[in-house]
Amino acid sequence: MPVTVVVGTQWGDEGKAKVIDLLAESHDYVVRYQGGHNAGHTVVVGDQKYALQLIPSGVLYDHVVPVIGNGVVVDLPTLFKEIDTLESRGVSCARLKVSSLAQLIFPWHQALDALIEGQRGDAKIGTTLKGIGPAYADKALRVGIRAGEVRDIARFAERVRERGVAASELLVARGGQAIDIDHVVETFTALATRLAPYIADTVNVLHDALADGNEVLLEGAQATFLDIDHGTYPYVTSSHPIAGGATVGSGLGPRDISRVVGITKAYTTRVGAGPFPTELTDERGDAIVDIGKEFGTVTGRRRRPGWLDLVMLRHAVRLNSLTEFALTKVDVLDDFESIDVCVGYTVDGVALRGYPDDVDVLGRVTPKYVTLPGWKKTLRGCRSYADLPSEAKAFVDLIEREVGVPVSIIGVGPGRDECVVRT
Ligand code: GDP
Ligand code: IMO
Ligand code: MG
Repeated sequence: MPVTVVVGTQWGDEGKAKVIDLLAESHDYVVRYQGGHNAGHTVVVGDQKYALQLIPSGVLYDHVVPVIGNGVVVDLPTLFKEIDTLESRGVSCARLKVSSLAQLIFPWHQALDALIEGQRGDAKIGTTLKGIGPAYADKALRVGIRAGEVRDIARFAERVRERGVAASELLVARGGQAIDIDHVVETFTALATRLAPYIADTVNVLHDALADGNEVLLEGAQATFLDIDHGTYPYVTSSHPIAGGATVGSGLGPRDISRVVGITKAYTTRVGAGPFPTELTDERGDAIVDIGKEFGTVTGRRRRPGWLDLVMLRHAVRLNSLTEFALTKVDVLDDFESIDVCVGYTVDGVALRGYPDDVDVLGRVTPKYVTLPGWKKTLRGCRSYADLPSEAKAFVDLIEREVGVPVSIIGVGPGRDECVVRT
């Protein structure tokens, strides 16, 4: 069964894109299965850096068919900006397929996202303001417009007008601005005409591809603890990044999947609000942010830094059926004298067995740490496990022992070749 899922195991930005780019070389299709342009996925090849939001990270290989699956919410201005940027840099997007079942994002979704966040005051989620939540809400309400509707442009224009009028009334009623509907209809009719050639019945395309012996990679955006059910609700995104979401968002079945790679950084970061037990608010956190360049690709926000949390990773193993981990950004810890790793939580002096199902309890846990000595040398040149200093191997061993899943890939730099793949 040649389907691999790549999923973030923390709160996003784990380096999923780099690992997907690495794995994509041996795959034929790379499929985004959820989220939208709230994602910021960076791939570095030589001196070239590619920042992707909607286009699957496999696009850099000529042999890969990139697919935007049915579970994605698609912002057309962003999609075409990304296509134009990639093509101007010599990366062809002609092979891209967009699921007819994917939902489209419209300006009113962004306006509503901003309005709701603004009205939340101190209780802000800290969303990316890309309209992701409102677009998924329209899908759940069964009033969303799907990408396949662009097959009939006249009907599409009517639908955009009808939805725009309803959304504009809602915005005004909630204290927001009215939508310039004529402008939106005109802009989106032009975008829809451009989208039409990319539209495909991707569910059947992917099943036929598997039947023909192709290898498929399902690319998660966001991460396990941003999952709308299993994450730190309400400080989550509005989709299902976990591996189960990969089947829903691609139309492949659970038994098609043989490999689930969980991506984790050697430490933890989080963008936006919400509890974060191992958060570092001292100079060690500043060092992680500086060395790891922990600023959002999409919003430019400083990411909140913290130590690696194995309680999270154990829960991620459960939720995603992880077969292995890719441990990224280990080189960021090169200069640290010592490295803390959280191996358990207590609440009111009592050890918790699993990850708490209550965000208020999570906000009150005390992490239990194991402190390891740092390796104090650069890992950037390491290309095999044997090259790693013994202290770095001890760090990997601790993760494997505590979490019970092997670490098969170790990231030692942002570049495509800067990793150790254990065979
Ligand atoms: P994603 O959203 O999970 O794809 O991750 P992002 O691309 O938002 O953030 C990860 C950042 O770390 C990017 O700038 C990558 O180029 C970079 N990166 C990925 N792996 C490594 C690594 O092993 N070492 C270092 N130093 N940087 C890495
Ligand atoms: P990648 O794929 C990190 C966070 C936002 C906010 C919450 C809800 O690059 O890992 P949303 O706009 O989705 O409604 O915001 O989710 N968030 C991310 N954090 N990486 C991401 O994507 C994220 N996408 C959304 O910061 O806290
Ligand atoms: Mg990111």
